[in-house]
This record gives sequence, C-alpha cells and structure tokens, in this order.
Amino acid sequence: MSTAKSSALYARARRHLVGGVNSPVRAMTSIGREPLFIARAEGAYVWDVDGNRYVDYLGTWGPAMLGHAPPAVIDAVSAALPAGTSFGAPTEREVIFAEAVCEAVPSVEQLRMTSSGSEAVMGALRVARAATGRAPIVKTIGGYHGALDPLLAEAGSGATTLGVPNSPGVPEGATANTRLVPFNDPAAAAEALEEAAAIIVEPVAGNMGVIPPQPGYLESLREACDASGALLIFDEVMTGFRVARGGAQERYGVTPDLTCLGKVIGGGLPVGAFGGRRDIMGVLAPEGPCYQAGTLSGNPLATAAGLAALGELAREGVYEQVEQTSAALEEAIAASGAPVVVNRVGAMLTPFFTQGPVTDYRTATASDTDAFAAFARKLIDAGVYPPPSQFEAWFVGLAHDESHIEQTREALAAAA
Ligand SMILES: Cc1ncc(COP(=O)(O)O)c(C=O)c1O
Repeated sequence: MSTAKSSALYARARRHLVGGVNSPVRAMTSIGREPLFIARAEGAYVWDVDGNRYVDYLGTWGPAMLGHAPPAVIDAVSAALPAGTSFGAPTEREVIFAEAVCEAVPSVEQLRMTSSGSEAVMGALRVARAATGRAPIVKTIGGYHGALDPLLAEAGSGATTLGVPNSPGVPEGATANTRLVPFNDPAAAAEALEEAAAIIVEPVAGNMGVIPPQPGYLESLREACDASGALLIFDEVMTGFRVARGGAQERYGVTPDLTCLGKVIGGGLPVGAFGGRRDIMGVLAPEGPCYQAGTLSGNPLATAAGLAALGELAREGVYEQVEQTSAALEEAIAASGAPVVVNRVGAMLTPFFTQGPVTDYRTATASDTDAFAAFARKLIDAGVYPPPSQFEAWFVGLAHDESHIEQTREALAAAA
C-alpha cells in the first residue's frame, strides 16, 4: 500500500500549517506515523489521496453517526444552499432544530446554538456561574471539554486537587477556580462541590478512552449537586444522540441541569448547543444579563445538516441496530487475540492495552501505548482506520454492517 501522496502533502502542509494539521491529534504522532490525507468518505469508508480505502472507526471524531455523506444530510444541505449561507438573523429552521433537540432530550427546555462543542461548554459554564453566583467549577481528571482555558487543567493525585494548568499559555488565574476530582469517585466530587457553581462531567468518559460511569456514580453526582446547590452539567458533546437518542442521561436515567451537545447534532457540519432548565437558561442575554454570542451560531447550512441527521436518528430501531453492530465489533476485537480490555457503551468503545479494569484516568493511563501504536499502525496498513490514540473512542455508525465487521476481523488478525 502506497501513501506517497499523503506523505508529499504532509511535507507541503507543514510549511504553512503548524504541524501540518488544524487539530493536533490528526497528526498521528502518538501512533508513530504520518497522517493520511483524506480525499473523500462515504458510508463506513474513507479514501485517502493515494486511493486506499479504509473501514472507518474515527467517524470524524464522533459526528458520523449516520456514516459519511449520508444522502439525507447531503440533500438537506444542497436544498438549503441556494437560499444563502448565513444571515445573522433568526430562521425557521433554528426553531425546528431546537424543538427536535428538546423533544429528544427532555431536560433541555431551552437551548442556545453555537458553532462547536467548545463554545457550548464555555456558554454552559458561564450560565452556571451566572445562575448560582459562584465561581468554582469541578471537573473530572482526564475529562476533556474542548480547548478552553479554565478546563485545560488535568492531573494531580489525591481526592481533590486544585487546578493546575497543563498547557503553556493558560495562566494560573484561568484555572484558579477549577477543582479536579477523579472520574467515578462520588466522595471526591461531593467534597469538591461545596460552594461550587457546577460539576462538568462526560457522563460516559470518552476522552481518556471509553469509561462507563460505575453504577450509582451519576446518581451520586445528582444528589451531591442538590445538596450543595451546585449545578450538574453533562457534557454530552460526544455521547449526545450516540449512546441513546436522548444521550447518556436517557441511557442512565439521570437528569442534569445543563447539557452540552455537539458532534452528532451537526450532521458533520460545525454545530454545538447548550441548554437545560428554563429558569437557569433565562440568565442568558437577551433575556438576562449573561452574555454569549456567535456570528455563525444557528448557521442555515449547519442547521439543515443537523436537522436532517436528527430526523434520521428518530427512526424506529436505529439505536438497536447500531448497538448490535457495536457489540459485534467489540466481540471481534476481544476475539482477535490482542491483549486488550474493551470498554464499550453503545456506539463508542476503546480497546485498552492493559489488564484492566479501566475505571478512571489512572487505570486508563496504565495502558501500553507502544503496543496500541503498533496495533493501530498495522490496522491502518490492513485497511482499517482507528482513532490514532490509545485514549480515544472508536465510533460505530449506522453505515457499518456485518461486511465491515468481517473486513475488520481480517485486519485484526493481521494486527493482533
Ligand atoms: C466531551 C467533549 N466536549 C467538548 C468537546 C469540544 O468540541 P469541539 O471540538 O466541537 O469544540 C469535545 C471534542 O472532542 C468532547 O469530546
């Protein structure tokens, strides 16, 4: 398999794009190879510029729940395009979009659209602080919520550590009100929530690899928030419309005060949203004094794509179908002989190169990343495209079927 054209493009890209990419993980450095430059994608496949075809489990980092270039989305965007690409004024489609999200995710009574998940999180944090009049935000170690200053704080041992920025360029002041607790540790969260504005949590962790909440964990966060007066923010940018139509909150039956969404709800175009209880969201301008805005928020093309995707995901049986395909992929990986523990929740999974169990950041980072890197490189050579990091989720979508799982089995046999 030749990837000469990708290599040539990478060399050219590095002259004017930092590291050759527009988002760091795309560079594939953590699996020790050069990135593939993608020419097109359809269904469960992506093709690189050299014409190689891959069964894709990157799923554009989550949005591709319907697979790539789904006809419903292509048709909706094509139909919307001639009417104009941006108005900076309200449109009917935004209203229908909001109705569709609120119907599927009942805890969201009102929402605000944004152009990315990061912006949605920024908005949710500001609303939580404005609504409670408190500053501290509790965050789980290993949780990722977008590249925003106050949440680029991570490691530290012990039950609760004060936020220490772990990216140069984030001043200590930006994380001074960030409190870190381990994922799946109810006691640490309860203690940290004292006088806090909110806890923000991925209800199924996806950004340290997939880690399910342990039984009772999300319920304990709900109780601790109620006891302390802090708000419960579920960052469902990854899990929303993926682990169930109504997200992790539907799957686990725990109701947050605020929810952040992105990825799947944009149908592959730039969309995010945050929303929740009407009384809380009412602090937001223009109803209240808390400011948040965006030139392209609710963009007509992005809204058309998102609405088409949500329409497809409202069909009978789609989540059962993707659950079955995901279970088949999980079994295929487990049966491949690779020394992994597979964590899976619905259509997201991670094979960890460790003995397990993997329940938090500490146990996730005990994985053998060199072994993962070798495995991922061999899979790519065998025509399967995994996320290029041990600490990411593999995404299954409605376009994957048994034939793709069979191709994956063959690639796994070569990689394990
Ligand atoms: C849970 C979670 N929150 C927020 C974000 C940020 O979203 P975006 O990259 O669209 O800004 C991500 C992105 O991966 C995410 O996984």
